[in-house]
Amino acid sequence: MYKYLELTSSTCYRTLSTLALKCNHKVIARVFLSTLSMKTINLGGSASNIKVGKVGHGLMMATWKPVPTPDEQVFEAVKAAINEVGPDAKIFLNSGEFYGMNPGTANLSLVNRFFTKYPEYADKAFLSVKGGVGPTGHSPDSSEENLRRSVDNINAHLGGAKKMDLFECARVDPNIPIEEIVATLAKLVKEGKFDHIGLSECSAETLRRAHKVHPIAAVEIEISLWSYEEETKKVIATAEELGVAVVGYSPLGRGLLTGKLKPDDLDKGDWRLRLDRFKEENLKHNQQILDVTSGIAERKGISNAQLSIAWVSSLGPHVMPLPGSSNVERTKENLNAASIELTPQESAEIHQALESIGVKGGRYFPGITNLWG
Ligand SMILES: NC(=O)c1ccc[n+]([C@@H]2O[C@H](COP(=O)([O-])OP(=O)(O)OC[C@H]3O[C@@H](n4cnc5c(N)ncnc54)[C@H](OP(=O)(O)O)[C@@H]3O)[C@@H](O)[C@H]2O)c1
Repeated sequence: MYKYLELTSSTCYRTLSTLALKCNHKVIARVFLSTLSMKTINLGGSASNIKVGKVGHGLMMATWKPVPTPDEQVFEAVKAAINEVGPDAKIFLNSGEFYGMNPGTANLSLVNRFFTKYPEYADKAFLSVKGGVGPTGHSPDSSEENLRRSVDNINAHLGGAKKMDLFECARVDPNIPIEEIVATLAKLVKEGKFDHIGLSECSAETLRRAHKVHPIAAVEIEISLWSYEEETKKVIATAEELGVAVVGYSPLGRGLLTGKLKPDDLDKGDWRLRLDRFKEENLKHNQQILDVTSGIAERKGISNAQLSIAWVSSLGPHVMPLPGSSNVERTKENLNAASIELTPQESAEIHQALESIGVKGGRYFPGITNLWG
């Protein structure tokens, strides 16, 4: 009965907000959107019984920068993210063993501090953690010895405040067959070190091979208006066929697609300044796509960030955009985008802009290896 009522009121609010948008009542639409409980999806593979919000929350940039954001500010954002999901779902939280400058484990310690302070939130979060790079540097090393070291190191830093629900190797190790890597991870699952296996930055073929060895709960790849390559489409289609959730990382183009962040605003030590798309000539070209999408966002009465997230979300019922923000209001804004639907005309307009303008600059920088592993 409760579920029925929740569903009815949520459908009703969604319809009202769509109507308000159609009638150009942007303020009313915003109010309805902010009162909706978030749309949810089930994860895949061994986690197919777990429901999470249709939009996740990434923690990387809270700590992987010269001056980490103060705890209290990040905590308010994480609490807001958890509170946005309905009573029967969890928020997908994303952390990493190396998401810090000094020390690399700063993000895990932040997660530990959060759940130590707010233990009542632990069951409301599904914690995914990336690891499996060598103890120094960021090269993938999926030998059993290193995966054990990495998983034990993550668990030690989480300190039992929150269980690691899912582990994924940040990059696919080109020197070890994926079947062997997944078999090692399955062994660690059996030992109780974490519950589910994910993949990150992998090709469709690797996903297919991995899933044969052990069900994969989620595959994390970069998806945004500026990062929608042929392999992106293949991974999304293969994941749908196999029943695996797709986590679309950096859906805001690492901040640029919000139209608010400019490279000049970044601290000189921010590693994003090395990225191709933060270079002036690429930025100038790619701005043309942003001009089109800003126009659509303006007509819909939503922010550029929300349009970017809604577009990633529109790529499939199993696709979950994973934006990151250390700010409470921006976090709510991002998660509210889970309820925003694009019309077929809006999707076509975006598709046309992507095709005719094209994106300049790679997803990372020249010389980067291990993409689409
Ligand atoms: N698997 C992988 O290899 C991989 C790689 C990269 C990232 N990821 C995951 O994906 C998550 C998100 O990626 P990301 O942080 O690189 O990029 P993103 O979500 O595309 O962009 C984050 C940036 O946008 C800003 N921002 C967020 N929401 C905003 C809003 N509504 N309005 C204006 N600015 C906004 C953030 O600043 P504020 O914090 O100040 O709001 C931050 O500078 C990470 O946390 C991480 O978990 C995974």
